[in-house]
This record gives sequence, C-alpha cells and structure tokens, in this order.
Amino acid sequence: MMSRRLNTSRRPAESGATPFIGAFHPKSRPSPMLSILLLILGALLIVGYIFKGSGGRTDVAALSRLDGGVSCTVEVSRLIPLLKKAYGDSMRKVLHVGPETCSIVSQLLKEEGTEAWGVEPYELDDADGNCRNMMHKGIVRVADIKFPLPYRPKSFSLVIVSDALDYLSPKYLNKTIPELARVASDGLVILSGYPGQQRSKVAEVSKFGRPAKLRSLTWWIRLFIQTSLEENETATKKFQQAAAKKSLESSCQIFHLKPLH
Ligand SMILES: *[C@@H]1O[C@H](CO)[C@@H](O)[C@H](O)[C@H]1NC(C)=O
Ligand SMILES: *[C@@H]1O[C@H](CO)[C@@H](O)[C@H](O)[C@H]1NC(C)=O
Repeated sequence: MMSRRLNTSRRPAESGATPFIGAFHPKSRPSPMLSILLLILGALLIVGYIFKGSGGRTDVAALSRLDGGVSCTVEVSRLIPLLKKAYGDSMRKVLHVGPETCSIVSQLLKEEGTEAWGVEPYELDDADGNCRNMMHKGIVRVADIKFPLPYRPKSFSLVIVSDALDYLSPKYLNKTIPELARVASDGLVILSGYPGQQRSKVAEVSKFGRPAKLRSLTWWIRLFIQTSLEENETATKKFQQAAAKKSLESSCQIFHLKPLH
C-alpha cells in the first residue's frame, strides 16, 4: 500500500503537472533529484500523519489505516477504554483471541489491574522480539481455534475475540463459540466485520486458508441461539452508553455474551 501511495504522488511530479512544481520551475521539467526529495517528503508527511492519528502506539493501527480496510483487532485496541467502562472488574483476567494478538495483549498489560493472555489462531512467522518473548513465556499461544482451547473452564474473566471467527464455517463455529464461552467466567465479547466491508490486510491473513465471510446481525443471533448463548444486556447497554459519551462508533459488530454456566 505504501508503494501504491508513493507511486501516485510520483506521477504528477514527473510530468510537471502539479501546480506547485509548475510554479517553481516554469520552463524546465523538475530534476529527478527534486522528484525524489518530494517523494521522501510526501512519505514522511503520510507516516507522520498516521502516527499522529494513532498516537504512535500500535503499528497495527497504522497498518490498518494505510490500507483503508477494517480490522476488528484494531477496533479492540481503540475500544479498550470502553470495555473497561462496561466490564469494570471483569477486565482483571483477559484472553484475546485473534490475529495480531501480541499487540492487543501488550496494550492490555499496560492497563492497571489487568492481566492478559492471547491466542494467535495461526502460526506467526514474522513475530517481533516482544511477541516471541510473550510466546516463550506462554502468555501468547498459537492455537487452532477449530479445536478445544488449551485452558481450563473459566480461566479468564473476559474473553475478547476479533476477526478470528469470520474465517470459520458454521460447522466449526458451532463448537468454537461454546468453547470460547467455556473458558470465560464473566463474559465473551465478539467483534466481527459487517457484510460487504473491505478487510484490512492485517485481518485478511491468507493463512486462514479461506477468505473472511462477513455475516449479518441476524445470522449471528441465530448462531448464538443455536449454541445456547445469551446476550448480556447490561454489558451491551453500559458499552453503548460509554461509546455514546465519547461519540465513538465502531466499524465492527460487537456482541456481549454471557458465559456458559
Ligand atoms: C449447529 O448446531 C445446531 C444445534 O445443535 C444445529 O441445529 C445446526 O444444524 C448445526 N449447524 C452445523 C452447520 O453443524
Ligand atoms: C453482564 O455484564 C456485567 C458487566 O457489565 C457483569 O457485571 C455481569 O456479571 C454480566 N452478567 C452475566 C449474567 O454474565
């Protein structure tokens, strides 16, 4: 994506069609050196803008904004303060399940009174040092969520899942969703894209083996009924109130479910 942006900014510079360049060099085409300088300046401005926008905290946020698609894992990162408002003390032991889980777990660990773990649904070959360290300590695990999770019942107060379920067929979802609810004691939060949404490269991991299938609200509700999961209306309400207060609108569907007891 980065290179696509650079290319579009180079074309007008080379042809001298940009008003700016025309003004500075009315007769001659700009030298290649000037083009390169402008190119670098443009790139710096874009990068600076993105990092300013995201607070420079998570590179996953920057990546997602660059390619213009939606990643619900980036949404989790943005919505953590609201989840804290909705869940309060239930944020004490959080499991995040989804791609880029290392960045979410790192962010959660910075919250006061929150312990965090992560499940990365597919093998990572580009994990950074921090991520490898967390995997080494067992804080983050790679686990295929089509199969039972390697945790005891109610191991976590809250389980948050983003982007991971969109890749599973109903046959697997029938087992995976109750399995996610099994390891939670207070709640299960599921973030999923809206149908027709463009996925960001972060979310569209080819390793999932199939493209994301974004399901409608009614589809999800039917699945929750089939798997005997109920919405936690109190949590939903608290979350929506907190979101309204900050005028935050999520680009993902968010479901607040009660755990299976
Ligand atoms: C999922 O489980 C429900 C309830 O047991 C069943 O009715 C439905 O056919 C299952 N769906 C699939 C795709 O296995
Ligand atoms: C619903 O969520 C709230 C947090 O907003 C939590 O305190 C409560 O225990 C949950 N209720 C159930 C039945 O899981």
